Amino acid sequence: MDNYITGPAIKRLREAKGMTQSQLAEQIGVSCKAVSKWETAKGLPDITLIEPLAKSLGVSVMELMSGETVTNKNISANILRSKFYVCPVCGNIIRSTGNAVVSCCGIALPALEAEDTDEEHEITTEKVEDEYFVSVNHEMTKTHFISFIAHLTSDKVQFVKLYPEGNAQTRFQLRGRGYLYIYCNKHGLMKKKI
Ligand SMILES: [Fe+2]
Repeated sequence: MDNYITGPAIKRLREAKGMTQSQLAEQIGVSCKAVSKWETAKGLPDITLIEPLAKSLGVSVMELMSGETVTNKNISANILRSKFYVCPVCGNIIRSTGNAVVSCCGIALPALEAEDTDEEHEITTEKVEDEYFVSVNHEMTKTHFISFIAHLTSDKVQFVKLYPEGNAQTRFQLRGRGYLYIYCNKHGLMKKKI
């Protein structure tokens, strides 16, 4: 785990709850001084206190550890606002339609920011009957390859996993305007309007 709870996160969550340090301390059975130390980065709460601390602060353990508050308003239904997360250890690929606290292999994963495709990662599309033939002009070796291609419109995701020594190409159904996303294991996430 690369993230442990931080002092500023405890302070922010406690203040958002309208609690004093001593009120929080009393709820979880520690001294007021202990809470003060955590908040000023002079100490860290023991792992056994994480769950009661999260409960008192009204957040999940994941939120507490990441320092981010996740509000589920169920408003992130537009697929075009999708975020991708890729685990650098096991290669797990996760997509969410809104903000999420994502971790894999014990690592907190950031939402990847997609760059526009560049010369080394050029995507060409060709209409073939009712499909797009999509190909990426990129090597597909074990050390440097395109790991996936996805086509996103407001209501649909088409996702194709690619593997080294295969071809960096696929076909997608024609489904209106949207974005093509590619992920290169060395250069990251890129997108192109289509
Ligand atoms: Fe690349």
